[in-house]
Formats: sequence, C-alpha cells, structure tokens
Amino acid sequence: MGFTHHYLLIFALCILYVESADPSAQLCNQNSNTTTPQLTKNIDSLLSALVKAASESGYSVTSSGSNQARVYGLAQCRGDVPSDECSSCIQTAAKEIKNMCPDRVDARIWYEYCFIRYNTENFFGQVDTGYGTFYYNVENVTDPKTFNTALGALMYKINSMASAAGNKGIAKDSTKLSDFLTLYALSQCTRDLSQLSCRQCLAIAVGNFPTYCDDKKGCRVIYSSCYVRYELYPFYFPLDADQKMALESSLKKNYTSVVKKP
Ligand SMILES: *[C@@H]1O[C@H](CO)[C@@H](O)[C@H](O)[C@H]1NC(C)=O
Ligand SMILES: *[C@@H]1O[C@H](CO)[C@@H](O)[C@H](O)[C@H]1NC(C)=O
Ligand SMILES: *[C@@H]1O[C@H](CO)[C@@H](O)[C@H](O)[C@H]1NC(C)=O
Repeated sequence: MGFTHHYLLIFALCILYVESADPSAQLCNQNSNTTTPQLTKNIDSLLSALVKAASESGYSVTSSGSNQARVYGLAQCRGDVPSDECSSCIQTAAKEIKNMCPDRVDARIWYEYCFIRYNTENFFGQVDTGYGTFYYNVENVTDPKTFNTALGALMYKINSMASAAGNKGIAKDSTKLSDFLTLYALSQCTRDLSQLSCRQCLAIAVGNFPTYCDDKKGCRVIYSSCYVRYELYPFYFPLDADQKMALESSLKKNYTSVVKKP
C-alpha cells in the first residue's frame, strides 16, 4: 500500500541539536485502533520478547497473542553499533514507545542506534515509506558538482551492498573528496525485507535527496523499512578516540528535521 499514495507535507520544523539520547522520530498512529486491556497485555509481552532477543542478536521479529488481539513486532539495531550500545538502546526504546503511545496499536520509535515497531496488522516483509523523517545539516557544501557525483556513486555502491545476500541489510563506506574531506555513508533495511524490497526502499530514500538533502553537508532519511545517512565526518562504528570526539562535537551542528506523513 504505502508508497503509491499521495503524500502531504505536514510540517517542517525547528532547528534542533540531535542527541543520541533522544528519539530521532516517533509515531503513535492516531488512525490505528485503540488498545484493549488484552492488547495492552500482549504488547507488553511482545516488548519483553523483543528486548530479550534483539539485545542479544541486534534484530528480532515476533508476535504475541492470537486472533484479533495478535500483535506483530520488530526490533533492530543499526548494524554497526556495538552490542552494549544496541542493548541499552533497545531497552530505552521499549520503555519509551509505551510512554509515547499507550493507547494505539500501531506505534514506532526510532533512535539513532535502534528502532522498535509494533502493529496489530502484520507488516513483516512490506516496504513502508509512508511515514518519513528527514534530517539535514543547514550548511551547504562548497562544491556541489563534485560532491553530488561522489555522493551518487557512494550511495549506489552501498545500497547495492546493503541489499545483497548475507549482509544483514546494512552497508557503510567512505570516499575521499579531497586531501581534507571525506564523505561517509551508511544504508540499512529492516531485516524482514527481501533483497528486492530492500533495494526498492533504499532507492525511494535516496530519491528524496534532491528534495530534502540538496547540496547539504549531511542528511538522514528515516523510514519504517530503511534508513540512509551521509556526513562529512565519521559517524558509524568502529570509531577511534579522535573520531568519537569529532562525532560528539558534531552533535552541536545544526540539523533541521522535516516529517512527512502519508
Ligand atoms: C480494528 O478493530 C476491529 C475490531 O476488533 C477489527 O475488525 C479491525 O480489523 C481493526 N482494524 C485494524 C486496521 O486492525
Ligand atoms: C544553502 O543553500 C540554500 C539554497 O541555495 C539557501 O537557501 C540557504 O540559505 C543556504 N544555507 C546556508 C546556511 O548558507
Ligand atoms: C543554528 O542555526 C540558528 C538559525 O539559523 C542559529 O541562530 C544558531 O546560532 C545556529 N547554531 C549553531 C550551533 O550553529
């Protein structure tokens, strides 16, 4: 369903300082059914199961309950994130998703390092680009022509890698733009997607670059089924001490977010 619809741009708001401690995005779908006491119970046990499994392996899909009260859930960490960071992210996400959305059966929460989603409708394996969040650095690159050529080539390369067999839906790589400047990029799909669906989701994500990321020094596209990000500083693991410091100071950079709803 999702991406064939017509989308409305609902709001473009606020300069914010992105911190890994806060969710990057969240959705409590007001068009979905309200919870019942039985569903709430099933959501609780679903979340416990997801936390347990995803903390260990970085990914889990499962369901809880039966018939009308069955709820489907997915939890996944960004594939490059170390397991301790993954585990603590998943635990926070599971707690916050309930606070953020106590009364609806379709809820999603995104952090930089992990993602949790549940719904009474079975969404496994479906490409969902209906709800998107875009973060872009307010600063423009100085040489758009060179930059965009390099960015296009890098995204093409990692999107092919992420959707190839055996890569668990993730790829990351960098390319030198000059002696002083390196471009870093990462793309990832949720691991329930087929290779073809992953490719499709990433193509839609990158297709947004001209609209939301045009000539920007950094950008992120966050969907329910995939994620892409590029920056002019290293942001994916493994990071050495200097790179960690650079990443921390990058948190003070100006990113603007835009949310697109179906
Ligand atoms: C909402 O709940 C009703 C009644 O339980 C059910 O028939 C319907 O399929 C639900 N809708 C969705 C989108 O899950
Ligand atoms: C970046 O470029 C856009 C489009 O040319 C312009 O509107 C914007 O003000 C520029 N941003 C900065 C921080 O210079
Ligand atoms: C971010 O941008 C706003 C508005 O453009 C500006 O007032 C603020 O100083 C900027 N902050 C940083 C850290 O660059």
